[in-house]
Formats: sequence, C-alpha cells, structure tokens
Amino acid sequence: MNTFSSSLIFDAIHITDSAAKACYPFIGRGDKNAADKAATDAMRLAFDDVSVSGTVVIGEGEMDEAPMLYIGEKVGKGGVEIDIAVDPLEGTKLCADAGPGSMTTLAIAPRGTLLHAPDIYMNKLAVGAGLPENIISLTATPAENVLAVAKAKGVSPSDIGVCILDRDRHKDIIASIRSVGARVVKITDGDVGGAILTADPDSGIDIYIGSGGAPEGVLAAAALKAVGGQMFGQLMFENNEQRERALSLGIKDPEAILGINDMVKSDCIFVATGVTTGAMIKGIFRNHGKLITETFVASSFAQKFYKVIG
Ligand code: FBP
Repeated sequence: MNTFSSSLIFDAIHITDSAAKACYPFIGRGDKNAADKAATDAMRLAFDDVSVSGTVVIGEGEMDEAPMLYIGEKVGKGGVEIDIAVDPLEGTKLCADAGPGSMTTLAIAPRGTLLHAPDIYMNKLAVGAGLPENIISLTATPAENVLAVAKAKGVSPSDIGVCILDRDRHKDIIASIRSVGARVVKITDGDVGGAILTADPDSGIDIYIGSGGAPEGVLAAAALKAVGGQMFGQLMFENNEQRERALSLGIKDPEAILGINDMVKSDCIFVATGVTTGAMIKGIFRNHGKLITETFVASSFAQKFYKVIG
C-alpha cells in the first residue's frame, strides 16, 4: 500500500537534486572529501524544508565522526515518521576524477523498516525483475548463479553480464564467472549503481556480485525493491568489535543472509541524481547558464523507475 504522499517523492527529488548541484563545482577537481562535504551540507539543508519526522539510519557515520546526516540524526520539520538512508555522494572518487557513475542517493521508508547496517563490508548478490524467487544464492558459487540466471532467461551463459567492483579481493569470483563463459563488467566504484543496472534490461548487466559497503548495500536493496528485483546481503566482520556493533544496532543474527525484505521491511522510495554520467543516469551539466540534472526515481508501490530532468 502506498504510505507516502506524492509530495514526498518530489521532496526526495529536490533533496538529491540539491546535493548534485552542490557537487557540480567539485567534479574533476581531485578533492573527494570536499565534494562529499558539499553534497552532505546541501542534502542536510534541503531536509529542513520537508514535512517529515525523519531519522537517519544509514548516513555519514556515527554522531561523533560526522557533523551532519549522522546515524540517529533527526531531520525534517515534522510529519510522517520515516527512516532515511543516504549516501549524499555515492562514488566520491568518481566525482573527484570526473569518472563515470557518481550520484547523490536517498531512500525513504516508514519508521523502523530499514536495516541499521554498520559501516563494514557486505557480501552482495542482486538480479533484476522477472526471475523466479531465490534464483540466486549467496551460498552458491558465482558460476552456479550465472548458470541459474542464464537458464531462467533462456540464454547462453556467454550472454550473461555480471557487474563487480574491480578489487583484488574479487579475483576468485571473477575467475568463477569467467569459467562458465559469462561477461565480467568491472566498475572502479559505485556499487549502488552497479546493483541497479541489473534492473535495467538495456544495461547488459544481469547480475551484480561482490563485496562493498554495507550502508551502500541497504541503499541498493531499497533501489531494487523499488524497481522490482532480488538482492541478498551478508555482513562481513573483520573482528568482534564490528560484530558487537551490528548487535548494538539491533541486528539479531549478524551472520544471517539477508533478503531484500530483511533489509527493507516495508514500502520504500529510492531516488538518485546523477553527478557524473554513468550507465544509468546522466550527470549534471550546465546549459545556457542553468544546471541541468537527471534524477532516477522509483517506489515499491509502482515497481518501475522513471527519470526526472531538473
Ligand atoms: P564512497 O562513495 O564512499 O567513496 O564509496 C564508493 C564505493 O565504491 C561504494 O560504492 C562501495 O560500496 C565501496 O566504495 C567499496 O569499498 P572499497 O573501495 O573499500 O572496496
């Protein structure tokens, strides 16, 4: 059921649009922290005008390490109670280097329904809509997942495209994917965008796989829930302190494989505005003195996405 007003979707678009516009002067300037700060400041300011009682559950970090949009921060000028997940600038290095696919991102869901993921790694696996439930599994090998998706789509494994972050830690996954003849599409950063590509039939990406930030995992889950798709995530702990942190955030079984409905328990809205042009969204540019943006908008009640030019 649609628990959100359409004005909230417009507010969400305004928030990521404002953050992207604030990033514009920092594209290609080599300073990823300055770009991230500009996006965060603009996003935080934009929330002041929105009639919600929002709680940041995925944000810029803990209260003592992030001045704005920190976990637990209350935003909005009062109204419906919502959870907020933000990555004000997803792909900070991409923006600093004018590389492809940086964007400002926001997910909104009713209060208490988004996973409070700690800032650690998450093992991720995602596919787009139209496939049998649980066709993919984090307990299967990457090759087995490719073969299952190829069979379900009625294509050869060589027609399957698998997106993954270009990291040394992924070399065994890449070898497994290639062992069955599938195409590996490496990205240098920005795995929220990578996961969303699985939902776009024109992207050539059928599967997203690999480890990346857990907060980005929740944003990707919200995006895929909104457009229709499947995603699984499993937190990856490097030490007991990280595990304790997960428990303290209310995650009862830290080792569990989480499905999309464990990460996003209710309806959600996901919006992302392009900063630099990627496969999914066009980046911000200036035309006749005006900054033009493109925003990807999706909500789980519609299960499709559209793009808004601002
Ligand atoms: P930032 O926007 O914080 O720079 O994150 C970019 C990113 O590529 C994420 O999309 C991804 O989840 C994470 O970094 C991967 O982390 P690592 O670079 O440590 O592999």
